Amino acid sequence: MPQRVRGVIAPGKGEPVRIETVVVPDPGPGEAVVQVQACGVCHTDLHYREGGINDDFPFLLGHEAAGIVETVGDGVTEVAPGDFVILNWRAVCGQCRACLRGRPQYCFNTHNARQKMALEDGTELSPALGIGAFAEKTLVAAGQCTKVDPAASPAAAGLLGCGVMAGLGAAVNTGGVSRGDTVAVIGCGGVGNAAIMGARLAGASRIIAVDIDDSKLATALRLGATHTVNSRSGGDPVEAVRELTGGNGADVVIEAVGRPETYRQAFYARDLAGTVVLVGVPTPEMTLELPLLDVFGRGGSLKSSWYGDCLPSRDFPMLIDLYLQGRLDLDAFVSETIGLDDVEAAFARMQRGEVLRSVVLF
Ligand code: APR
Ligand code: ZN
Ligand code: ZN
Repeated sequence: MPQRVRGVIAPGKGEPVRIETVVVPDPGPGEAVVQVQACGVCHTDLHYREGGINDDFPFLLGHEAAGIVETVGDGVTEVAPGDFVILNWRAVCGQCRACLRGRPQYCFNTHNARQKMALEDGTELSPALGIGAFAEKTLVAAGQCTKVDPAASPAAAGLLGCGVMAGLGAAVNTGGVSRGDTVAVIGCGGVGNAAIMGARLAGASRIIAVDIDDSKLATALRLGATHTVNSRSGGDPVEAVRELTGGNGADVVIEAVGRPETYRQAFYARDLAGTVVLVGVPTPEMTLELPLLDVFGRGGSLKSSWYGDCLPSRDFPMLIDLYLQGRLDLDAFVSETIGLDDVEAAFARMQRGEVLRSVVLF
């Protein structure tokens, strides 16, 4: 029997979100219905609402979530009813060239649930990032569910489904930060601060936080930065990073803003043979000109990090273990817990930079 639940819908380009009744079908083959317990409010949800991702309105927003598997369809072996799971954006195929070469992060054939959730009048919904978890229940592909230790708080666990994983993974997976490395993080919002936590976890010696906002830098210090640079009031951040690294530049620099000037700073703030990791998402019109001799002469690598290069089945349970042992403070990212009715107001607080994460609890 299809179920009727409350969900947060983005009805059209730039229109405020509203709560509607969502019809959730029973899971088909390879699918699961998850009872959502917590879902973080992410910039990407706002981008969907503004039409910045695609025009497939109406959207069912929410994608940074944890919950309990309620029912599964035929052939599902990954999870069972009652499992506590973190949701990820897409199930991988296991058979394409990327999957077979051990790089399922770049799978060519990812999928979500094949059935659609809909409004009561039959209008099909597009779930944000194939999830749609600002709803009491949601339908996903079973491969989008990763079972983790149920002792974790749902609000903290859900954050691994997007922003925190993106930042932490940029440092640990993409950047390969290792013990003793010097690390600079440019942009200390939710993503940059998660990168700082990742760098600390990996044993970085110096972690230099760069931002234009002192309150963000204060948070960065709390989460593990060893030095801060205000790039609005404190002079050239590239020089500041060099000074703090014995004149060399950092071994790994993570850009978590998404602007040409900060990409440039990241490029020049690294040591010879260092690694630059680009996490901030640029807009289509942004370009950056660099002297080729600087690219050639500095060696090292320039990488982008997509979803923190994570493997959910490897990374989510491991990070939840670290959290439960007190070695990864995911709770520090939860600025406030809110109800489903408060998502629109939470977007405004996010835009004003007042919160790391607002999390909807069910
Ligand atoms: N130099 C340094 N920091 C800056 C600059 C700048 N020129 N401009 C903005 N910032 C800082 C802001 O003060 C803020 O602390 O960058 C941070 C951005 O944080 P958020 O807006 O909270 O964004 P976040 O969710 O962390 O995402 C950052 O990563 O995944 C991508 O799409 C995401 O492009 C976005 C980026
Ligand atoms: Zn594949
Ligand atoms: Zn997100």
